[in-house]
Amino acid sequence: MRILSGIQSSGNLHLGNYFGAIRQFVELQHEGESLYFIADLHALTTVKDPETLRNSVLETALAFLSLGLDPVHAILFRQSDVPEILELYWILGTVVPVSNLERATSFKDKISRGLSPDFGLFAYPVLMAADILLYGSDLVPVGRDQNQHVEFARDWATKFNLTYVPGYDPADPEGTAGHPAGILKLPAARIQESTAVVLGIDGQKMSKSYGNAIDLFASDSEIKKRIMSIKTDSTPIEAPKPTENSALYQLLKLLVPEPEFAQIDRSWKAGGTGYGEYKKQLLNFFHAQFDPARKKRQELLENRGEVERVLRYGAERARQIAEPIINEVRRATGLRL
Ligand code: ADP
Ligand code: TRP
Repeated sequence: MRILSGIQSSGNLHLGNYFGAIRQFVELQHEGESLYFIADLHALTTVKDPETLRNSVLETALAFLSLGLDPVHAILFRQSDVPEILELYWILGTVVPVSNLERATSFKDKISRGLSPDFGLFAYPVLMAADILLYGSDLVPVGRDQNQHVEFARDWATKFNLTYVPGYDPADPEGTAGHPAGILKLPAARIQESTAVVLGIDGQKMSKSYGNAIDLFASDSEIKKRIMSIKTDSTPIEAPKPTENSALYQLLKLLVPEPEFAQIDRSWKAGGTGYGEYKKQLLNFFHAQFDPARKKRQELLENRGEVERVLRYGAERARQIAEPIINEVRRATGLRL
């Protein structure tokens, strides 16, 4: 089984990125051949400052490595180090209906926030589909917000196969019932339901673009400030606290291991403890969980040459996987003999 996922490197990583994405990457790295990449080409759709881009790529690589990805086992690379991606992106684009791109949530969201769209943003899902299909991925672990993109990748792979593989039957995509197998393999998304959407300190979805994130590698004082300012309601100390839509409760649930969480859960529902007390507990558990990674990141930061070597080695391995697939695509389309 081949597992693939990417993270767009457009800022510092936060708890939403960890529980929605990176934690799954780390857990899955030993369940198959895994490829994880830093989506720097995608990041260009939002980051227009070279220094910021370079820094985000570095931060993402540091986060992957310090949070437990093993670069000997997992293939860790930078998207733009595999030039074949842009070739498949173009070819795939020639079978993508414009109407699909118009209803892409990423595109609609950004427009509704008043950003004037450029071609890169419009074409974002095509590049993402190429990312997935270039390596023949089976499983794509992502947050719920990315599910539509994986669905598109499936649809367009089918469309490509129907166009270029004579006799291809979408009901038999792998060719197990005697039809010719597709050139592009159909991927499946893997969404971890329990953490599908991590809430930010204002109670909305945590996102670097909403200014409501708790960053994994911020300074101790910044982390404290953020956690202490998690929005809560006016339930009195003595009263039982509501769990629904409570960012504080959700974050405790994510960060506090059993059996400590069971205890917090009981007291939350019984009343008698104020929100401030829970925030202090959350802060302690944040440090208990992330301090080892925070320390490791600091060490890696002082050894950037090693991080660069890891990324280059990963890109070489990724290109080896991509090569037979892109060659078949070139032949099937008539671009090569
Ligand atoms: P952001 O919204 O901060 O810009 P990205 O879009 O770069 O984050 O997301 C990177 C990865 O982290 C994706 O796989 C995404 O699904 C996941 N992710 C981001 N925010 C959250 C969240 N609040 N809850 C769950 N997963 C998230
Ligand atoms: N769009 C994804 C995000 O916002 C990043 C990404 C790019 C990705 N290409 C991918 C994720 C391919 C999974 C597979 O995080």
